[in-house]
Amino acid sequence: MVPTAGRPYQLTGGKALRLRNACRATEERRRDRTPRDRRQRAQLGPDLELLAGRQGQLPGGPRGRGRLRAIYPEIVDVARASRRFLIRAVRYLAGEARVQQFLDIGTGLPTADNTHEVAQRLAPEARVVYVDNDPVVLAHARALLTSTRGVTAYVDADLHDPDRILAAAARTLDLTRPIGLMLLGILGHVDDDAEARSIVKRLLEALPSGSYLTVCDGTNIISEAGVEAQRVYNESGAVPYRLRTPDQIAEFFEGLELVEPGVVSCPRWRPDATERASGAPAEMDQFAGVARKP
Ligand SMILES: C[S@@+](CC[C@H](N)C(=O)[O-])C[C@H]1O[C@@H](n2cnc3c(N)ncnc32)[C@H](O)[C@@H]1O
Repeated sequence: MVPTAGRPYQLTGGKALRLRNACRATEERRRDRTPRDRRQRAQLGPDLELLAGRQGQLPGGPRGRGRLRAIYPEIVDVARASRRFLIRAVRYLAGEARVQQFLDIGTGLPTADNTHEVAQRLAPEARVVYVDNDPVVLAHARALLTSTRGVTAYVDADLHDPDRILAAAARTLDLTRPIGLMLLGILGHVDDDAEARSIVKRLLEALPSGSYLTVCDGTNIISEAGVEAQRVYNESGAVPYRLRTPDQIAEFFEGLELVEPGVVSCPRWRPDATERASGAPAEMDQFAGVARKP
């Protein structure tokens, strides 16, 4: 199902029921918030939405998130840095690389500076297909369908089924022209290295030369607290997420031409002047890269 801007869409059967339950759970989580939670939320704004994107299914709702923040307070900085990476990467793609079409798999909850907003500021006609398999994200998908001149679509599909994603994306994107394939914060949800690489390979095979792969994912080499927080998260019953080494993340780019500076901790990927103001940004356990399909 690919709802496009302004077109209402309907779900039936079990999917509608799951969606209603997910909406109810979101509402209950909202009601559960303590005044302190609400204050923190107001202060952190989109950052907590980003955390919610990763932790939407964490049992315990805000309390569960609070527990992770207690173990690993830098998680908020990581969420902010990941979003800033997305902004710089999409600006590079829509600007310097002149990519006008994006396939963003693992969308997360809509927040500030979603892919289509960043891309369409530079390339108003840009077309963006978002893909996620979380019913809560689906429930909020309308907030992503806000293009004016360009087009945005949302596909409810699973990364493990790349052919279905490609078929649905082809209803909105011209797959004979370059595509910016965005896999941010999602490959960790595929535990097996070979399977994750084969999914990326299958997606790239279907895209023409001049397309780009952008990956940003959690790593396990800098912060022990981050590794512990991930362990707690994985044991909570949430969809598990596997931290990889930077080398394992670099393997996703095999056969592609890496854009400078290669695969680096995400704050170090082409930081802008303000981010560089006090020297090289600190590294964190989130590595990222952008590469062109030759
Ligand atoms: C951490 S969020 C990343 C959000 C966004 N890409 C970002 O970087 O801010 C990961 C998203 O991937 C989605 N996801 C996880 N496993 C998935 C799968 N197998 N298929 C589709 N989406 C998946 C989750 O529902 C979640 O919305």
